[in-house]
Amino acid sequence: MKICLGIESTAHTFGIGIVDEKGNILANVKEVYTTKQGGIVPLEAAEHHEKVKEKVLKLALEKAGIKLDDINVVSFSQGPGLAPCLLKGLFLAKKLGKELSIDLVPVNHCIAHLEIGKLLCKAKDPVMLYVSGANTQVISYASKRYRVFGETLDIGVGNFIDSFARYCGIGFPGGPKIEELAKKSKNLVELPYSVKGMDVAFSGLLTNLKQKYDKGYKLSDLAFSLQEYAFAMLTEVSERAMAFLRKEELLLAGGVACNKRLQEMCKIMCKERNAKFFCPPNEFLVDNGAMIAWLGLLMFKANQKVKADEADIAPYQRSDEVKVSWLN
Ligand code: ATP
Ligand code: FE2
Repeated sequence: MKICLGIESTAHTFGIGIVDEKGNILANVKEVYTTKQGGIVPLEAAEHHEKVKEKVLKLALEKAGIKLDDINVVSFSQGPGLAPCLLKGLFLAKKLGKELSIDLVPVNHCIAHLEIGKLLCKAKDPVMLYVSGANTQVISYASKRYRVFGETLDIGVGNFIDSFARYCGIGFPGGPKIEELAKKSKNLVELPYSVKGMDVAFSGLLTNLKQKYDKGYKLSDLAFSLQEYAFAMLTEVSERAMAFLRKEELLLAGGVACNKRLQEMCKIMCKERNAKFFCPPNEFLVDNGAMIAWLGLLMFKANQKVKADEADIAPYQRSDEVKVSWLN
């Protein structure tokens, strides 16, 4: 039985997952770079990854109860992501590839979110709403590629929520804090609703919320309204993609998908159109090594691999650039 070790290092998270051919997740270990204030500093995050990589690797092997020699496939997140962070994952992958004398599998981070969701939820051909800090995209399989059908025109929904939370001094990450505050209100304040075709935009909403906060609106009312507006926008574009593609499954991914109100809205939308709703456990919604390992294994079996010497990162890689030989 083939066993794959996958390395995730696109942004905050340095993760290593180990999975077998049957889809058993033997280990999923991670360390997350955090900042008290401000956003991610790419070089600092990379330094963090450098510091923790050996420890994460050791723990993952221990958790899986195997030795490095038992690994048959090594995969790494190739992009999209921050170059200094991606390089740390690449270097470790190359080192392991050479030690084990095996080829490497470069994996697209966004598609990995989708494939692990399919595995864990037994979804067949879903539309994925991928909502994290930096990413906000609606992705699905069509005409032999994973394609982006809708996305944010400015900032990611997680960054939008975090920026507002930081402005109000309630700390980082803002998502869980806004969710708690929102539970204390049912008072909907009018905000801009910004859907353009299949795309969404959040910067106008952010400015408006900041102005209302400065005017003295209650924070719980703003948190509640932020969620109602932003998540309705995301639910609307997901539904439009499902209708357009005639697909009957919705899969959530990304850290913002941990939000129960977003889950509820998507669930209601799916119920109304007789579609299935899937949401993996939080551990697999956020960035994780297991998803890189699982997609690595699928790609390896389809012979989509490279020599360790030729492996490289692709910080701006788009989902539809990736050949999808494992599904055809
Ligand atoms: P990438 O964008 O590369 O996938 P990331 O590290 O930004 O990586 P995640 O770890 O998937 O992304 O998600 C982090 C984001 O999720 C943060 O913006 C955080 O505020 C948000 N988040 C976490 N929990 C919740 C929640 N309960 N409600 C809303 N947002 C949440
Ligand atoms: Fe992610």
